[in-house]
Amino acid sequence: MKIGFIGLGIMGSRMAANLQKHGYSLVVFNRTRAKAEEAALGANGFLNHLQSNALWVDCSSVNPSFSKKMAAEAGRHEVHLVDAPVTGFAPVAAEAKLIFWVGADMPDLEEIRPLLLCMGNKIVHAGGHGMGTSMKMVINLLLGTGMAAFAEAMALGEVLGISRKMLFDSLLGMPAVASFLASKREKI
Ligand SMILES: NC(=O)c1ccc[n+]([C@@H]2O[C@H](COP(=O)([O-])OP(=O)(O)OC[C@H]3O[C@@H](n4cnc5c(N)ncnc54)[C@H](OP(=O)(O)O)[C@@H]3O)[C@@H](O)[C@H]2O)c1
Repeated sequence: MKIGFIGLGIMGSRMAANLQKHGYSLVVFNRTRAKAEEAALGANGFLNHLQSNALWVDCSSVNPSFSKKMAAEAGRHEVHLVDAPVTGFAPVAAEAKLIFWVGADMPDLEEIRPLLLCMGNKIVHAGGHGMGTSMKMVINLLLGTGMAAFAEAMALGEVLGISRKMLFDSLLGMPAVASFLASKREKI
């Protein structure tokens, strides 16, 4: 199988490394030289260069409407899009423990399942095109509101005269607080 991997940032570099660890050889691309160019569309976009029946697996967190639009564009080139955004952060990507939220036709998911399992340990088929990114939006809503609620609670606590240390020590890890926030203490 020929694998092209686009985007070697915080997540992509670790995900690509995990595919290589499993013996897959990759053709990699990072945009930097052409920051202003279109990634997929346009005369030099990669869709024009993929063979028919190629699979385009998009792991970015993007608007579901973008996934649906790109699935249609890809279809015009006889390319199959799989939207497969992930949950996890850099260390989780490095340990190949990402969760993939997949929007795709089932046969396309089955073809790439072994590849996803090199980079993650859970795959959820959420439905057709755009449903993987839809799930990711729902999860990001929960992350965002969890973070906002915690910030409001900290602000209220401090106004009431409770020390920041007391608030952190007491609140993080409680069922009432989103569990991912415990790992963010230093950053908060
Ligand atoms: N970081 C996390 O904890 C995390 C967790 C879950 C999901 N995600 C999602 O994973 C994706 C990548 O996140 P990241 O943290 O790895 O970001 P990042 O370090 O900023 O990397 C982004 C990568 O995408 C490339 N890129 C951006 N715009 C492009 C364009 N128009 N054309 C071609 N390449 C382009 C960048 O190329 P350049 O090097 O040229 O800029 C870079 O390689 C995002 O969708 C993010 O929401 C991230």
